[in-house]
This record gives sequence, structure tokens and C-alpha cells, in this order.
Amino acid sequence: MKILVTGGCGYIGSHTCVQLLNNDYEVIVIDNLVNSKKDVINKIEKITNKKVIFYEGDVRNSDLLNKIFSENEIDAVIHFAGLKAVGESVKKPIEYYQNNLDSTLVLLDCMKKFNVKRIIFSSSATVYGNNTNVPFKEDYETGNTTNPYGTSKLFIEQILKDVYVSDNEFSIVLLRYFNPIGAHESGLIGDNPNGIPNNLMPYITKVAVKELDHLNVFGNDYPTHDGTGVRDYIHVVDLADGHVKALNKLFNSKGVNIYNLGTGIGYSVLDVIFAFEKVNNIKIPYVICDRRDGDIAICYADATKAKNEIGFETKKTLDDMVKDSYNFYIHNKDNK
Ligand code: NAD
Ligand code: UFG
Repeated sequence: MKILVTGGCGYIGSHTCVQLLNNDYEVIVIDNLVNSKKDVINKIEKITNKKVIFYEGDVRNSDLLNKIFSENEIDAVIHFAGLKAVGESVKKPIEYYQNNLDSTLVLLDCMKKFNVKRIIFSSSATVYGNNTNVPFKEDYETGNTTNPYGTSKLFIEQILKDVYVSDNEFSIVLLRYFNPIGAHESGLIGDNPNGIPNNLMPYITKVAVKELDHLNVFGNDYPTHDGTGVRDYIHVVDLADGHVKALNKLFNSKGVNIYNLGTGIGYSVLDVIFAFEKVNNIKIPYVICDRRDGDIAICYADATKAKNEIGFETKKTLDDMVKDSYNFYIHNKDNK
């Protein structure tokens, strides 16, 4: 089976390519490298000892997509390509909507033309908006997103639902990721954002290697067990495995199926800091600051639907996540 992976050089895409290859799928990647590097392909091949077909370019380029679909008999698409920085999306809404929506529309148009009607889309827990009724379930109302990035995910979910209404031959899986962290245990692939990170784990790793002198903890007055924000951190290798599980569903049913990919467990910011310190034997200096605008107190998944319907279960612990995040960072901090 041949799977087209858009954004396959990125953080989650690269780990998913590894899982796909390890499960004997053939992998074709398209990526414009706007937030990744080409040598990720070599690293995926090194880890798996298998080949990847790589096209460098933009998913919005319909000529290139036509070429890819003509040259390869694609069975299904996993669509990761997109811009993902929440803060940047507030400053550059046009760029975010253009990239995330246009790439999806051009891709869907081409898929229809080539009669490829199976797609998995990278959505996010952000579509649950400021809902406070945790754990989040797939049938909760979505909306009230607070930034263009989140709204682009909401819009794309709707576009995909509309495509199914228009053509019942489509099989669509929307995966709502919670907070992916960690890295492949080889230390070859992982998350390596440029500049000062917004997300917790890349910030902690930079403090660990003294590139930044302390972590700002955004609020300790939330209604949580220690006052700091609670999230559902999921190891990226478990998350990648969720895509392989979702593919079985894609090949065996039609319609739109939605799954949360999380562990179902919420950890606070302090839980993550203390786990990182214990496992890696490094002190993480931190300062308690004001809450960050737009943050909710608690966000974690009800992961039972994914377990019951696609057999998805996470295997990695928080200790694995903090160990692998740090291992990747120390091996790659100079590889910008
Ligand atoms: P990433 O930035 O590491 O990967 C995205 C990849 O897509 C990059 O390699 C980038 O170069 C590529 N890309 C972007 N626009 C493109 C375009 N128009 N044409 C071709 N390639 C393009 O991000 P990630 O963390 O791996 O996220 C993958 C997907 O999952 C994204 O859609 C993201 O919004 C979604 N998601 C991520 C998280 C998270 O916390 N990382 C959470 C929820 C959802
Ligand atoms: N945090 C800090 N200090 C930091 C960074 C984060 O205390 O320097 C805290 C946040 O306040 C929050 C927790 O750590 O309580 C996690 O924050 P992240 O920025 O790592 O993640 P978010 O949950 O805010 O956002 C993530 C993704 C979004 C996605 C959202 C919902 O980055 O893309 O989950 O799924 F939309």
C-alpha cells in the first residue's frame, strides 16, 4: 500500500513515516521544508533501513501534486502539512489560512481527480475551544477557537465533512492530537523549533542545556492539583502509531470518523518539570508568572473511542517522554 504523507519531514510526520515503513507501507513524502530539513528523509531511511520517495515542494502546487499522483498509485493520504504556531497565526492570519486551507483544498481536488478517496487529517484538541468539561470527548461541540491556527483546524474539519456529504465514497479520519512531546529513541528525529519556543517541552530542554536561564510557569492559580495548567502529553511515537491504527479504519470503512489521540491522563506543568529533573538528573530553574492569554486550565482526552474502534493504546510514560525529548535535543541542538 502506498501512502502519501504531506509534511512528512516535520515533527509528527517524520515519526509517522517511520511507523508506516516499519509496518510495510510504502511512503511518498511531499514537503516544502518551510519548517523542517531535507536530511530528515535520510534519517527516516537510516532508522528503518527502507526507502522514502521524496518530492520537495508545496502542497498548494497543483501541477506538482498531479505529477505525484500520476507517478505513484497512491492508496491513501495522511495530511500533516500546515503551519502550526499559535502566536504567529495571530500575527499572520492570512498566511495561516492561505497555507492551511489552500493546501487542503488543492490536495482534495487532486485526490478526487485521481479517485483517491482516503485521507487522515491532523486536527487538534484546540477545536474543543474553551470547553471546561474534561475529559474531552469526540462528540463534544467544537468551536470558540481563540486563534487563526485553531480556527483553520475547525474549518478544515468542516471542509472534510462537506466533501464526504458530496461524495459518500470518501473515507476520512480526523485525528485530534493532544500535546505531542518526546522523540524517536534513536535521537535522530524530533522537535527542533527555531528561536525561543512557545511550547513547554522545547522550552524546558533549552533551559536544561542552559541556552535559556529559566522556565516561566504561566500561572499557579488554576483549579488543578498544584495550581499549574494540566495537559495530556502524548509521546510522538505513540501518536505516530495512532496513524497506522487509523489507516486500518480508513481502508475498511467509509464516512467521517473522529478520534482523540491522547493518553487520557493530565499532567501539570510542575509534574513535567519534576519528571524531567528526576529522569535526566538536571535542575530546571523556574519562575511562577502570570497566566498566558488564551490558556485553559485543564485539557485532556477521553481516549476510549480510539481504543474501542481502532485499538489505539499508548505505551510510553511521562518518564519516556522527558527522557527522549532531552536525548533528541542534546544530539541536535547545533543542527539548525
Ligand atoms: P511541523 O511544522 O513539524 O510539520 C509540518 C510540516 O509541513 C513541516 O515539515 C513543513 O515544512 C511542512 N509544510 C507546511 N506547509 C506546507 C505546504 N504548504 N506544503 C508542503 N509542506 C508544508 O508540525 P508538526 O508538529 O509535525 O505538526 C503536523 C501537523 O499536526 C500540523 O498540521 C499541525 O497543525 C498538527 N498538530 C500539531 C500539534 C503539535 O503540538 N505539534 C498539535 C495538534 C495538531
Ligand atoms: N507553559 C508554561 N511555560 C512555557 C510554555 C508553556 O508554563 O514556557 C504551560 C502552558 O501554560 C500550558 C502548558 O505549559 O499550561 C502546555 O503549553 P504548550 O504551549 O506546550 O501547549 P498548549 O496546550 O498551550 O498548546 C498545544 C499546541 C497547540 C494546540 C493545543 C491544543 O501547541 O497547537 O495544544 O491541542 F492547539
